[in-house]
Amino acid sequence: MEYALQFAATLSVIVLVLYSILRRSSAIRDIPGPPSPSWIFGNLRQLLLSPVYGEHEFNWLSFYGSVYSLRACFGENRLMVADPLALQYILNSPKFYRAPILNNMAILLFGDSSVITARGNEHRRLRAGLNPGFTTAAVRSYHPVFKKVAEMLDNFTTTNADVCSVLSPATLDAISEAILGRPTKDLGAEFAANNIEIVKLTASQSETHILADAIGSRLPAWVWRAAIYLPTAAFAVARQEKFLAKQVGGRIVRENRAAATLGLERGNDFFSVLLDPETAEKTKTLTDQDIVAQTALILIAGQETTASFGLLELARHPDFQDKLRAEIYANSAAIVADLAYENMPLLNAFLKETLRLYPAVPLADRVALEDAIIPLGESIVSFNGERINQIAVRKGEVLALGIASYQRLASRWGKNPHEFNPSRWLDGDTYQGDAVGPYANLLSFLGGPRTCLGWRFA
Ligand code: HEM
Repeated sequence: MEYALQFAATLSVIVLVLYSILRRSSAIRDIPGPPSPSWIFGNLRQLLLSPVYGEHEFNWLSFYGSVYSLRACFGENRLMVADPLALQYILNSPKFYRAPILNNMAILLFGDSSVITARGNEHRRLRAGLNPGFTTAAVRSYHPVFKKVAEMLDNFTTTNADVCSVLSPATLDAISEAILGRPTKDLGAEFAANNIEIVKLTASQSETHILADAIGSRLPAWVWRAAIYLPTAAFAVARQEKFLAKQVGGRIVRENRAAATLGLERGNDFFSVLLDPETAEKTKTLTDQDIVAQTALILIAGQETTASFGLLELARHPDFQDKLRAEIYANSAAIVADLAYENMPLLNAFLKETLRLYPAVPLADRVALEDAIIPLGESIVSFNGERINQIAVRKGEVLALGIASYQRLASRWGKNPHEFNPSRWLDGDTYQGDAVGPYANLLSFLGGPRTCLGWRFA
């Protein structure tokens, strides 16, 4: 057994070395970037494991600009992209897709039939079918649920308490009621506990993860499909999530159908809207199985990712906190009447600034599905001194989309972009040109055909 393991390890190293020697030369190598401190990890330990997020990344941004080259594991070249035009191009082009590791993880967790893993026409069909639950009008109809959850939070006044332990269940409450039309306790304690484990799993990073990603991304998709049956704790949590979500989703769909048969009034929640015969008549796209297949994704996609950072900044900026509270109190009558949100400039500035500084997905890897030429908004100087305004990437090369870096470009967000300063949204300091994302020109909800469906809800 020991010999077999040694043989497998030696073979893997030989294959990786040959791969790094024989792969086609890449234009990314001509782009300046930070030196790599290790062949095994490249710059990834600096990028992903800094004790403070962005410690290296934001220095590289100011030194090399919004496009630079990096090394990933085993000498792989990677292009870091925070240039707005390049990001817009990549997010909207069919020549790029989620990098294999991210995609395989999504398939493990959500299966092939969820909107996040579906491709091409199937993706468009599912998005069109789900859209009625995420329009401005639909999200407005969820306001009573949001209000109820906010009132529950209002009772939480203890100082020195862990806000994350309160905000996460509150977010799950809002999603559960507004999406499924059921209180969280109806999902079962096992489901709620497993959901927390999934979030921990997807949020953790380590050297082992980096290496597993590097090796895993070179494995064929069938290995990933088989991997879910491995008896490890992580895969057990993923298996359980898939199983429980299907069970919960299936039960709710059946209950809604039974209620409709009995002529009972339908709820305002997302599932009820989708299962309403009138909606189905209009969209004519989603089957009951399609709706059940979205349960896991929506319950996980909607986990709390951002609000706790907003509260942290309010604690750091008590003057702003006082002004924001005064604005909310001054509008409290209008809030009850559901009219207030657009008339609250400080609240809007606060939301935008929090989403800008704390994107839930600060880095998103994309792979080139075919050779492509990426246009740059700002030209750069290559190693051989040539000024270039486009970069050729080859099929199979991976690009790191620097969402967090993009959201700290002085050219977009005005002076001191690393500082929390909601006033930048009120003083006209932020860029007003072409939008790259769905909200406030930010990419926290990504952009293009795979923009977060739930951004208005969020
Ligand atoms: C602040 C909160 C949120 C943030 C920052 C966020 C961010 C994102 C991002 C970055 C993606 C793209 C993932 C990828 O393609 O790799 C995404 C996709 C998605 N999000 Fe959100 N999300 C949030 C809240 C929500 C909520 C509340 C819902 C639903 C209730 C939701 C539903 C979805 C769905 C269905 C997709 C898949 C869209 C597709 O692939 O076509 N999100 N989200």
